[in-house]
Formats: sequence, C-alpha cells, structure tokens
Amino acid sequence: MSDKKLTIAIDGFSSCGKSTVAKELAKKLGYIYVDTGAMYRAVTLYCMRNSLISDDGTVNETELKKVIGNVGISFIYDQQTSKNTTLLNGEVVEDEIRRIEVSNKVSYVSRIDFVRAQMVKLQQDMGRQGGIVMDGRDIGTVVFPNADLKIFMTASPEVRAQRRFDELTAKGEKVTFDEILENVNQRDYLDQHREVSPLRQADDAHVVDNSNMTREEQFDVILQLVVNAKNN
Ligand code: DC
Repeated sequence: MSDKKLTIAIDGFSSCGKSTVAKELAKKLGYIYVDTGAMYRAVTLYCMRNSLISDDGTVNETELKKVIGNVGISFIYDQQTSKNTTLLNGEVVEDEIRRIEVSNKVSYVSRIDFVRAQMVKLQQDMGRQGGIVMDGRDIGTVVFPNADLKIFMTASPEVRAQRRFDELTAKGEKVTFDEILENVNQRDYLDQHREVSPLRQADDAHVVDNSNMTREEQFDVILQLVVNAKNN
C-alpha cells in the first residue's frame, strides 16, 4: 500500500460494530482512532451528574450552554492496541459512559446544536493531519465531508441488539434482550430524525451490511476499500 495518510470516516447505526472495525483498521494502518460516540456519551454523563437532564430526557439547555465550554473531553490513546480511554475533565469514565442509563439518554443530548458544534470542532482539530479513522454518525457528512474514504455500516436491529446484549451481560450488567432492542430501535429513530446532522449515508459512502458477515470477512471487505482509496 502507498504511504498516503488517509482520513477514514465510518458512520452507521448504533451497535453495528463500527468501533471494532475502526479500531482494527487504525491498528493495522498505524493511524489514530477516534470514537465520537464516546464524546457525546461523556457530555451526557456530565449532564446526568450535574442534574442538567431529567428522567424523560429533557435537557436544561440554558444551563448546559453556559457550561459546555468547561466540559473537557479527552482520550488516552494506546497506539499499540488502538484502545481508547475516554476522560471527562481528567477522570476516566470509559466504563461508565457505556452503561444503559447513559445509552438511554445520549440521543437527547447529541441532538442539541451547540453540543454538536463543540464536538465537531474538536473532531476536526483531531483529524487535521490525516492518518485517522473516526467513527460516528455524521463523520462523512459533516465532520469530514472530504474524507478519502467513507464507509456506512449497518446490520439488522436484532443482530445489533444481540451483540450489545452479549457485550453488556459479559460485563455483568443486568439487562434483558427486549430492553436492548428497544434502546437500539429508539436510538435509530432519534438519530435519523433529529434536526441537526441526522444520521444519513453520504452519497459517496460505501455501504457495508454486516448482518451475515464474520468479523474477518467484514475486515477484508473494508481493507480492500482502503487499498482502493490509497490508489486513487
Ligand atoms: O456510537 P455510540 O452508540 O457510542 O454513540 C452514542 C450516541 O451518540 C448515538 O446514539 C448517537 C450519538 N452520536 C452522534 O450523534 N454523532 C456522532 N458522530 C456519534 C454519536
């Protein structure tokens, strides 16, 4: 492969394995990996801890707007393993932001325009040099509309719910499959129907539906897309 340092955008529905693939790809290519969902999750956790979001998902936007500049999000990135650890104002929150309580609220926070503007700016700063794999919902459409390679990943809601269920129960969380499926469907709806930067496939994105693919098959398909993009 040539030495061209690509900007790779991976978008798609929740729990469709974007971050697994993005991490593997970053490791293989020696690139930086950025999980933008973690950033929205960290802001959500901040809101929950500071009583800025109610149980029904109503966000106190006036107060959040005053403090959003103080919500420090950073990552500790291990290039060897591509493991990303998310920090909120210097505190490791990697596990906490994956909990179902945060998943249930994150769409209410990520639909707020000034939250998105702040996150997009941070993401663009991180990707300025290229050599980056970034996953999210709006990377190919808003954050890096000129990305060298755009991938749109998808899988059926049931397959995605099963994967998330397995992941959470392995960590000892007490959740039911139906609860997870409901969360997946609800987030799909909210992500696709919000006013600001809704989840949609960029016109020039390559669609990868991995419902019936093994991890290895999927990785091969994506690696081929990378080779093609490098040769372009
Ligand atoms: O990828 P994830 O499931 O960890 O993302 C959590 C939520 O953050 C998801 O419901 C939508 C939102 N999100 C977003 O709006 N834009 C992004 N670029 C990444 C995530």
